Amino acid sequence: MNGHPLLEARGVTVRFGGLTAVDGVSAAFAPGELVGIIGPNGAGKTTFFNALSGVTAPSAGELFAGGLRLTGARPHRYARQGIARTFQTPRVFAELPVAANVDFGLQFAGRGRSASWLLKDAASILNLIGLADQAALPAAAITPSQQRLLEIGMALATRPRLLLLDEVAAGLTEGEVEAMAQLIRRLRDELDLTVIWIEHAVTTLLRHVERVLVLHQGRKIADGTPSEVVRNPEVVEAYLGDEVPA
Ligand SMILES: Nc1ncnc2c1ncn2[C@@H]1O[C@H](COP(=O)(O)OP(=O)(O)O)[C@@H](O)[C@H]1O
Ligand SMILES: [Mg+2]
Repeated sequence: MNGHPLLEARGVTVRFGGLTAVDGVSAAFAPGELVGIIGPNGAGKTTFFNALSGVTAPSAGELFAGGLRLTGARPHRYARQGIARTFQTPRVFAELPVAANVDFGLQFAGRGRSASWLLKDAASILNLIGLADQAALPAAAITPSQQRLLEIGMALATRPRLLLLDEVAAGLTEGEVEAMAQLIRRLRDELDLTVIWIEHAVTTLLRHVERVLVLHQGRKIADGTPSEVVRNPEVVEAYLGDEVPA
């Protein structure tokens, strides 16, 4: 790499009319990091992801990938820099077979990026995410938790350097949430990915990430290790009070 962070947000602000959904957030993400983002509903987490992936242009602030300024660029330019994301509401092609959904992602695979053999083709990707047995089923026929895995598979098919996961464990059973966390760690380790993971299941997330950002009313109120963040008085006040045992 060139010494620049993989992705950097500088003072990113997103306004919707009179509402400031993301308020001057700065953060840099280094290669190989597994970073969590937490915060109450409406804190601006998804909107921040939308800015990081080029889906929503910031009202103010700057975005850089590997030192290259991307502010205001279209989403495909973010994708070309190796940024892939999932959506809070999975976006799969319901009528198409599971394998065809992954093939769709492969069409957008970054050219020239050396791909791990684990991402060679749809079959390899389905193996990696544990959906090999479902390859021929229509996406509509698999369980909601399998659809979340499929969405991750579609994002992986683009052969990203940075994977943004928006509440991929929402609606899963406790056991499934833990399995999802293990998968996310394996992806980071085996594919050399940087992962930024938004999740509502805070206790699980805090056990698995090395660093966590806390958003509250659009502002970043903490950025540190899980043990630092759970001791941060502003975080406890704003959010964690009832969720994490002292
Ligand atoms: N497209 C939009 N238009 C208007 N307001 C929006 C839009 N998207 C999000 N918001 C508002 O921005 C705030 C942050 O939303 P969001 O980023 O979805 O929060 P989170 O993901 O943390 O729950 C909320 O008040 C939400 O209602
Ligand atoms: Mg959200």
